[in-house]
Amino acid sequence: MKIELANRIRELPPYLFARIDALKNEERKKGKDLIDLGIGDPDLPTPPHIVAALAEAARDPGTHRYPSYVGMEDFRKAAAGFMKTRFGLSFDPQKEVICVIGSKEAIAHFPFAFVNPGDVVLCPDPGYPVYATLTRFAGGEPYFLPLRRESGFLPDLDAIPADVARRAKILWINYPNNPTAALAVPGFYEKVVAFAQKNDVIVASDLAYSEMYYEAPPPSFLETPGAREVGIEFHSLSKTYNMTGWRVGWACGNATLVGGLGQVKTNVDSGAFDAVQRAAIAALTGDQAPVARQREIYRERRDVLCGGLAKAGFDVLTPKASFYTLVANPKGLTSIEFASRLLTEAGVVATPATGFGAAGEGFVRLTVCADKARLAEAVDRMAKLKL
Ligand SMILES: Cc1ncc(COP(=O)(O)O)c(C=O)c1O
Repeated sequence: MKIELANRIRELPPYLFARIDALKNEERKKGKDLIDLGIGDPDLPTPPHIVAALAEAARDPGTHRYPSYVGMEDFRKAAAGFMKTRFGLSFDPQKEVICVIGSKEAIAHFPFAFVNPGDVVLCPDPGYPVYATLTRFAGGEPYFLPLRRESGFLPDLDAIPADVARRAKILWINYPNNPTAALAVPGFYEKVVAFAQKNDVIVASDLAYSEMYYEAPPPSFLETPGAREVGIEFHSLSKTYNMTGWRVGWACGNATLVGGLGQVKTNVDSGAFDAVQRAAIAALTGDQAPVARQREIYRERRDVLCGGLAKAGFDVLTPKASFYTLVANPKGLTSIEFASRLLTEAGVVATPATGFGAAGEGFVRLTVCADKARLAEAVDRMAKLKL
């Protein structure tokens, strides 16, 4: 029998990390000590009170059956409570909040509720790859909005051709941003709302990194006047509470948008494990001191990494939020070449920013998901390179 993959899989863009992955394996086989700053996955553990809540909930047979599609009412109330405390926004937990199995799941399913074949989805470049890939899976066409250093990695909405804007159904925004670590500047979200209202475009805001900041806490897009008519926002417990493996988050915003996502999910999954939701309630309603402590740890690490690299002469973009840092390629090197040389000559794993889109050319991305000693060692090794 001949087995053929569907076109949507065969037509996926080339996997740009393949070369780096292969090099990583080769270097590991040689026994090289690699410092992996390529991954965006917290190395610190989930706070103990959250683990304890999971353990207790998992022992309760009441959590062992199918969960509700939209999430436990108490979870949705806890998420609404977080939105109120952190952003001053009130949401109706019945209609305006839905539990999701990690924000990736919700981001992936969202286009299926609103995108028809031929519709355009406006995606940041560089950007989290799920926005564009799942647009394609849903039959839509991604239109990439370049994020440039000189514009603070914000898209130029005025540069979108009128016919593209007319066909656009969704605009994805993500601040604090992966991979650039940029923040939305005052006035940007107002422009987004005006663009959305003018062109009947849904705004999907990905706020996965809301609690990872080193200066003023980043706002929610939904705080912007008019945003709640046009927008939905995706939140995650993954990075805030070191729960990437637990798979839980929420989406909130306009009731029709939340409801549409819910209709897709009802047909695809059966909700997040109730015990995980109970642990998530403990996270959202419990002591937030661990989150603040973690910010301090990331800040210290950022200072070691960025301070050290700047001193060594690298053009490093010190982030005000997120755990990502862009480092500009030394002259004459592409992002893939720079990342390859960091790997083979310094044993430092970096991610070429081109893995997030062509406009990422010019940078590699490092994370601070390693302790200060390892980051200092990475800086030392990079400082010795002759690039
Ligand atoms: C920008 C962005 N959004 C969403 C996610 C998904 O996070 P999760 O599914 O763990 O909530 C990630 C994960 O790295 C991300 O970088």
